Amino acid sequence: MARPRRFSLTVSLISLVEFLSLTSGSTLQQPCADGGGGPAAGVRAGYWSPSSSRYSPVSSIDASLFTHLYYSSVSIDEASYAVAPPPADEAPLLAAFSSTVKSGSPSAKTMLSIGTDEYRVDVSNAAFSRMASDRSLRGVFINSSVELARANGFDGLDLSWIFPATQMDMVNLGVLLAEWRAKITEESATNSLSEPLLLTATLYFSNHLFDMPDSNLDYPIDDISSNLDWANILTFGFHGGSNVTTVDAPLYDATSHFSVSYGVISWLDAGVPPCKLVMGIPLFGRSWFLRNKAKNGIGSPAAAAGTKQRKSNQTGIIAYAEVEEYMDTGSTVVTYDSQSVAEYFCNGDLWVSFDSAQVVQKKLEFAARSQLLGYFLWTVGFDDSNSTISKQATESWHQYAQDGFGTMHAGGSNQEALIVPSRGEEAQATVESSRLSGLIPRHDILCGGDARRILAELKKKTCEVGVTLLLLAIETTTPEDPIVAGLMAVRRFLCYERPLAGCIL
Ligand SMILES: *[C@@H]1O[C@H](CO)[C@@H](O)[C@H](O)[C@H]1NC(C)=O
Ligand SMILES: *[C@@H]1O[C@H](CO)[C@@H](O)[C@H](O)[C@H]1NC(C)=O
Ligand SMILES: *[C@@H]1O[C@H](CO)[C@@H](O)[C@H](O)[C@H]1NC(C)=O
Ligand SMILES: *[C@@H]1O[C@H](CO)[C@@H](O)[C@H](O)[C@H]1NC(C)=O
Repeated sequence: MARPRRFSLTVSLISLVEFLSLTSGSTLQQPCADGGGGPAAGVRAGYWSPSSSRYSPVSSIDASLFTHLYYSSVSIDEASYAVAPPPADEAPLLAAFSSTVKSGSPSAKTMLSIGTDEYRVDVSNAAFSRMASDRSLRGVFINSSVELARANGFDGLDLSWIFPATQMDMVNLGVLLAEWRAKITEESATNSLSEPLLLTATLYFSNHLFDMPDSNLDYPIDDISSNLDWANILTFGFHGGSNVTTVDAPLYDATSHFSVSYGVISWLDAGVPPCKLVMGIPLFGRSWFLRNKAKNGIGSPAAAAGTKQRKSNQTGIIAYAEVEEYMDTGSTVVTYDSQSVAEYFCNGDLWVSFDSAQVVQKKLEFAARSQLLGYFLWTVGFDDSNSTISKQATESWHQYAQDGFGTMHAGGSNQEALIVPSRGEEAQATVESSRLSGLIPRHDILCGGDARRILAELKKKTCEVGVTLLLLAIETTTPEDPIVAGLMAVRRFLCYERPLAGCIL
């Protein structure tokens, strides 16, 4: 049905979603400008596991592709609550880590991650919980962490407690971080030759923990924002136990909150400044055996997790380098899913979801547009011998840094464009699914057909953090309409002239 050209132009101009990222009003957060230590060029980090030394020794890592490399990890001693010394076979790896990294790239910083022991999760987490609850045990732990980091030439410390499980744990975590920061400040004052140690934490993908016995579990946002140099969020590994095939680290998911975008936005909405947030990218894929080879899309019944691979040494987990080996065989069928921004392949009855170079590029575009401090790769030993993904990540990040981060323009990515229908129920459904999937990255959504009402609402809201303005198609208007012209001016100001505004049209 032909419509006058001007009408459709009007609709396309005003059927728009705007993401306004106004300056935070909270006084508790450290401002992003001096950020408490985040390097200006951003963080391009990688975790290295000593268990990968048999196929990916530290000396084989191209350290120039990273600003920070994490030794992941040492654990906590369940008797003394000090940081546990590494097992005998790992001690030389820990001792050599910093000097090996720095001989490859003198500007790279090294971080010692202290975390939950993956083979003894319950015991290890109980020890973290106990330590965090007691002032003198916190002192023992903190002192020993600083000593171990300095003794081995590390530039910083990381807490990878996976995960605090009660509200008391969360409160105590906040206290621990504050005391840890105080100790680091004090130590650097008496140790004038060195920079203060960096302090980071590896956290759940969202600020709210799902699927825990306590359904009301949120991280202590202010303690995190004011004591950490930054937080690394685990935005992957969402579907380990699934009995159907599914993408394991999608950027978007319209049907659940298990997506990268949901996690990032939940942290920002909770009040962590974007300059304190570093987003995780998996260098592993998730594998399953199909029940029926003919049923091989997303959501197909799976018989079991994929077999243990050489590198990961875990069922259901496959390193990117091993994914590549399958991709090189003719019988592998690869699919890029643009809706979720994820990739998967199928080979006989093996089905694997993974992050390809294209997925990584799209995710980093999202991270840059959200003005995050950077990204980390988990784990660097899973990359191929050409460091394909590590290189892709660093190139994308430099490109977005050059483009000035944030303020992406119309057409930058169709993936995020949201055309909102003009009528009630349909519009509401679109808004709901977009909110769920993270397409709308802020909590205030104004919608309705009346431009005057929207403007009035907007005026009330502009001093709050993160207002999202959603304009539905406004009937009976033309570009010359003063109200529409006014909205366009507001959009220009917020999207292109405010330095911190992120914007998608
Ligand atoms: C930690 O080190 C400080 C000195 O920096 C000392 O005063 C304090 O007693 C130590 N705490 C513990 C529990 O060892
Ligand atoms: C997967 O598990 C759910 C609940 O645990 C069950 O309802 C469903 O039937 C299972 N699907 C398959 C394909 O086994
Ligand atoms: C693989 O994992 C098992 C535990 O599941 C462990 O005992 C074994 O040492 C690991 N093998 C290697 C080569 O790391
Ligand atoms: C690494 O790059 C070389 C040269 O481009 C290529 O021949 C080789 O197949 C690549 N190896 C992997 C594992 O991608």
